[in-house]
Amino acid sequence: MAFNPTAKQVTALKAVAFVLSLLPFFKLVWLTASGQLVEPLQYITRATGDWTLYFLCITLAVTPLRRLSKWNWLLKLRRMVGLYAFFYGLLHFTTFLWFDHFFDVQEMLKDVLKRPFITVGFIAFVLLIPLAVTSTNGMVRRLGGKRWQWLHRLVYVIAPLGILHYWWMKAAKHDFSQPILFGLIVLALLAVRVYWARSKAAANTRAVGSV
Ligand code: HEM
Repeated sequence: MAFNPTAKQVTALKAVAFVLSLLPFFKLVWLTASGQLVEPLQYITRATGDWTLYFLCITLAVTPLRRLSKWNWLLKLRRMVGLYAFFYGLLHFTTFLWFDHFFDVQEMLKDVLKRPFITVGFIAFVLLIPLAVTSTNGMVRRLGGKRWQWLHRLVYVIAPLGILHYWWMKAAKHDFSQPILFGLIVLALLAVRVYWARSKAAANTRAVGSV
């Protein structure tokens, strides 16, 4: 279905997506402030972890969706969605550092090293930092398109690490349904890229052969 919004419409769509992406955050603030949470620490840690993973999946879904729908304007939303993954990841991490360790960084690092599922989550979050820092147009120019693109491929590592973190956490309860679902989503989003890259390489080889 052809849908080619004007620049103004894309700006409006971005504004809508921006506000919608903040709703989970406002919901958390509201539930906490109104004292509706029975176990606030657990609820906030889980909700922010979930939203980090959702935004990582949405970020990975932009390119396949764009290619399949030919909605090239979707690319204009990708940076914002990626930054929201970082935003919720930062909230998730801050909740852990604040409520679990009262900002005692040394104690927090000990815990990170002691519990493998947290080690993996921590690595995923640390890898997200350079992507957030280099998300500006100025950084794209400074790094150069190719290097920037390579760096941002880190998301192909971050998302599986997020799944592993989730899996490991749920393993203690033998409850794998959600990690399996999200694992399959991430696998499909990465597999389609491998398929497209291989098809392109094969087409290039054929083109060179026919010269
Ligand atoms: C990209 C990075 C990360 C992603 C995608 C992520 C995702 C998740 C998800 C999906 C959950 C389960 C939520 C649920 O049960 O519904 C979770 C739980 C948890 N995460 Fe993360 N996480 C990340 C980074 C981190 C970091 C950096 C830390 C701390 C250093 C951390 C600590 C935790 C803890 C302690 C829980 C368990 C909460 C509980 O048992 O109630 N995560 N995370």
